[in-house]
Amino acid sequence: MSKFYITTPIYYINDRPHIGHAYATIAADMLARYHRQAGESVFFATGTDENSTKTVQAAKKVGQDTRAYTDQMAATWEETWKQLEISQDRFIRTTEPAHQKAVYDLIKKIEATGDIYKGTYVGLYCTGCEEFKREAELEAGKCPLHKTVPEKVEEENYFFKLSKYQKQLLDYIEKNPTFIQPESRRNEITQFIKGGLEDLSVSRTKKEWGIAWPGDDSQTIYVWIDALINYLAATGYPGAKSTDWWPADLHLIGKDIIKFHCVYWPAMLMSAGLPLPKTIFAHGFFTVDGQKISKSLGNAVDPVALAGQYGIDALRYYLLREIPFGSDGEFSHSRFRKVYEADLANELGNAVQRVAAMVLKYQEGAIGEVQTAPHDVGPVHTAIKEFRLDRALEEIWVHVKGVNQYIEEEKPWELAKTDREQLSDVLASAVGDLLHIAELIMPFMPTTARKIAETFANGTVNKEVGILFPKFDEPAS
Ligand code: ME8
Ligand code: MG
Repeated sequence: MSKFYITTPIYYINDRPHIGHAYATIAADMLARYHRQAGESVFFATGTDENSTKTVQAAKKVGQDTRAYTDQMAATWEETWKQLEISQDRFIRTTEPAHQKAVYDLIKKIEATGDIYKGTYVGLYCTGCEEFKREAELEAGKCPLHKTVPEKVEEENYFFKLSKYQKQLLDYIEKNPTFIQPESRRNEITQFIKGGLEDLSVSRTKKEWGIAWPGDDSQTIYVWIDALINYLAATGYPGAKSTDWWPADLHLIGKDIIKFHCVYWPAMLMSAGLPLPKTIFAHGFFTVDGQKISKSLGNAVDPVALAGQYGIDALRYYLLREIPFGSDGEFSHSRFRKVYEADLANELGNAVQRVAAMVLKYQEGAIGEVQTAPHDVGPVHTAIKEFRLDRALEEIWVHVKGVNQYIEEEKPWELAKTDREQLSDVLASAVGDLLHIAELIMPFMPTTARKIAETFANGTVNKEVGILFPKFDEPAS
């Protein structure tokens, strides 16, 4: 049986999850479910990145002890994914001993290769990014993302010989065209590497929070180095069973963190002599009212509240359908409402409801022999393989619309008066289409898929299942 190991970024815990984080996690969940449905052995990992200075600052701000704050926030993230019915197999926290063990093992391997040395670093550090910035990257002396003045740091640190891997990385990317996707990100990374790689400072002088450098308590491991290793730690690395899952088949990340995943991480793995992830796919960003989602703007949309209002499946559908996967787009409540009404209530919900109602009305709920539909579903699978998740939904909706069209054309209400045999065939065929659609939408909308299957299970219409997408009383604003 083939295996599929998929990961999301592990999220910082200085804030609660918003729809951007939910988008990444839902997309990964959809792909995990898709591969499980195909009979593959799937391992799906997500978690929290807890060793950041942001954590300490956020705890201070609310007057909490860092450890207590961390535990509470990690629980909030885990609970959010539970409420959104995310199907992860492993929720990894970077404060777990198992994670630290993996970090130590990998760093020791890199050290053994001779790729670590001590040097003095002078640079400008942005805590928001958890990254050193070059002067050229700043705008009026400030980090363009966080609008803060980075801190001047001069200290002795351990360095990783990143520069040594410049050619090897470029060759690898060239030989493996699907390693970094989409292509625009691949080009961005290629340009970045060609611009020249400098060695990377991978430790800081001792911090009050974080993982100490193995064998040197005076240094703390740079949080990004620690965080990336979670992908190995989640598999049980350095245990022997780790190779059941490693290398990852897919690291799904946002476009903001490609340098870490597509340059630093592969170089670290090359140095340690471990296989590289098969694919890294970077999705785009949602804006709200045209603005970046940020704590200071107070425009973060709570995914659990949205799911409570529209349903988890509707949220999944909207987020995955609204923007081409890999591109940026706008989140809007009014668009969500329109998509809900048009695609979900009026198209899918209506198709299921009217077919069920007619089988009840004309045949006392008896479906008869369900006809299996000869649909061409190739385009759906191709779109998913190419990470065009929005496109896959569009292809499935061709079939959803097809059911409503078929009903309009065949007019079962007239056949009920003229040709009962033909009526029975038409309804059985519509049910077959809907059951097939249920299978196709399962990874995207698991509860809806189950409800459709239950509505038409055992050759009879089950009235108990109820309406899939209830309409709202108030008009869309
Ligand atoms: O960067 N739209 O964590 P993070 C879409 N801890 N996706 C968004 C988004 C938005 N507006 N905002 C965030 C970190 N995301 C590190 C990762 S991994 C070893 C360490 C998603 O909490 C997107 O996937 O800042 C992005 O890459 C991720 O959240 C960053 O989450
Ligand atoms: Mg971030």
